[in-house]
Amino acid sequence: MKLRFLFALFSASAGLFISFQQVANAACVVPSYNQKRGIPPGFTEAQGFKGRFDFPASTSEPLPPFLSIDFTQDWRAYVQAVLDYSFEGNIAVDFDVADNNVRNWYHALWMHPGNSGREFLHGLTKERATDPEQLAEGVTKSFDTWAVGFYNALGATTFAKVWNDPCSPKIDDIYFPIGTTTFKLLFTTATATDIPYLAGAPEWEGDIGRAPNRIGKLHLYQIDIAVRDPRSLQTGWVFGTFVYQGSVPGTDPWKKLVPVGLSWGNDRFVPPPGQLRQNVLNETLEGKIYGWAGRKELGWGGRVNGPADNQISSCVSCHGSAQYPRSDDFGNLPRQPATPVDYQRRLLEYFRDIFAGGVFDGESRYFGTQTAVLARPLDYSLQLQVGIERMCATVTAREAPFNDGTVPVPPVCPTPPAVVAGGPESLSTGPALADRDDTIDALLEPIR
Ligand code: HEC
Repeated sequence: MKLRFLFALFSASAGLFISFQQVANAACVVPSYNQKRGIPPGFTEAQGFKGRFDFPASTSEPLPPFLSIDFTQDWRAYVQAVLDYSFEGNIAVDFDVADNNVRNWYHALWMHPGNSGREFLHGLTKERATDPEQLAEGVTKSFDTWAVGFYNALGATTFAKVWNDPCSPKIDDIYFPIGTTTFKLLFTTATATDIPYLAGAPEWEGDIGRAPNRIGKLHLYQIDIAVRDPRSLQTGWVFGTFVYQGSVPGTDPWKKLVPVGLSWGNDRFVPPPGQLRQNVLNETLEGKIYGWAGRKELGWGGRVNGPADNQISSCVSCHGSAQYPRSDDFGNLPRQPATPVDYQRRLLEYFRDIFAGGVFDGESRYFGTQTAVLARPLDYSLQLQVGIERMCATVTAREAPFNDGTVPVPPVCPTPPAVVAGGPESLSTGPALADRDDTIDALLEPIR
């Protein structure tokens, strides 16, 4: 507290005019990688990941050209055009998007805290690990997945509203503008020896905790895209994905991303094995990325999903459940209940089409508590959901910058347990203190 205040005074007197508020806000923006792990041996602070968070309040970015392609007629042309748009200017700078001179792209804020928070080198976050048999038939090991996502300038205008105060998000009326485009690169710790189709895949290093110096090699295997498209009448969004296939002829690995499918709805009333209408799949990938006992399908009943994803869900259904706090009943998945009849009922509820800006499960609870709260929709943005969850976990765990009273508790977060001077902590809600682990990781529910 004192140091911060002195720093503010010093800066002001040095003629920099940095206000107290700005100093407090900066504590919520930089550094943008997981601080607990710190800098890996042999690296310097300057080499650390810096997110691009200077979200514009408005933008002159034109609507993307693929909004004129009818995805119901030619889904491949559409999804390829979105990938080309996402690659433009980004491959040359290795996705250091701040250096892209063709188009502006931005990162999501507050994804850094916790063990699965942004790592040092590329700001990758750790996702659900893949199971044996998940990525290819006969694979006996599980592998870690690390990913990073980006929004174009149209999408970033919504981030500008949410994070006008980077220490206190405003999450009312979240509604991304038409043309919002977001993509995500997913990497695996598997190699081409483990999974032959990874041969020649783009490679990144990450601070992923591998001995001896924590740095490990990662291979790109999936790229997700999502677009706010007005022609998607039930959900307002279109989701598609690609998978790397080393067998594609040629020498440019960025040209070896094969489209997996496209979806703009849940096909709610089409139980398996019905013919889906809002999910189209590239069936030439059967036997390569799905179609064996351990991985019968990519998403539920053949709905579009990627190799990384949980086959009981789909892109559109999982993202349609983006809200804060997340649904206490479903999380982001149709978790299996006790009886098959219940499961059928839950599937019908889970695979509802949520229109952009609508809420999936209006009454929810903060994770690990019994306090009922009105959930606010996050318009299909799971990075917003995860970012706010990580920020509130930081508040509850009383970690910096929420540890010394300098930065107030954001109103969207549950009130942290009070500290009673000289006595035990008191908790009005949630599990008994003895059962509770107030570390950021314990306060986050993984999306599995
Ligand atoms: C079971 C849940 C789940 C499924 C299924 C899923 N995602 Fe996501 N997705 C997430 C989570 C959680 C994040 C945010 C955290 C992250 O990026 O690591 C995310 C982030 C993204 C982002 C970055 C924008 C955002 O929402 O923040 C895109 C784009 C994306 N996913 C597309 C897809 C596509 C395309 C599919 C299907 C091929 C898919 N997702 C399937 C959970 C899911």
